[in-house]
Amino acid sequence: MSFQVDGTSFLDPFVVDVDLDNGAMPNATNHLVRRASNMRGYYQDEKALEALIADGDPLHYEVFEVPVPEEYGHLMYCISKLQPGRVGDEFFMTKGHYHTVLQTGEIYLGLRGEGYMVMKTPDGVFNSQPIARCKMVYVPPYWAHRSVNVSDEPLVSFCVYPGDAGHNYGDIVEQGFPKGVFLEDGKVVVK
Ligand SMILES: [Fe+2]
Repeated sequence: MSFQVDGTSFLDPFVVDVDLDNGAMPNATNHLVRRASNMRGYYQDEKALEALIADGDPLHYEVFEVPVPEEYGHLMYCISKLQPGRVGDEFFMTKGHYHTVLQTGEIYLGLRGEGYMVMKTPDGVFNSQPIARCKMVYVPPYWAHRSVNVSDEPLVSFCVYPGDAGHNYGDIVEQGFPKGVFLEDGKVVVK
């Protein structure tokens, strides 16, 4: 059967395997991979990032998705796996994004590791919330979001968001976030 009501496609129900321990969707058809070299311009210490790239260009993060139609009414979902590490004193993080449809939110459920979801509004208001196993972060509409891993194991989370939300990375490339997460005198500091 194939039809749409107001632009929302009919689909048959389906099931997806999720590897919660390793942070993967074994049958994902979208597998986004970001290495250190994909993160130029995001960290404060550019020299430390270049040293990391020269030293094997390690894996930074992966996102697994089995995509659904990018339409109102559908729910996109993912497993995100962010490796542990630092660029200088700054903890590994994802690029971060707004949703193209700004008035759409997102749920992140922590599965493994510990870190922060750092968020900002278009007019520069900052917020950060802890994410870990048994913690679920609600990212409301209008907030750009980025995850940061402060643990010594991968930070794995499950996300779900409206199918028509889209991703807007460009504004973060230009504006960055007002604060980052750093190791300072042996402590995790958001500054
Ligand atoms: Fe998002």
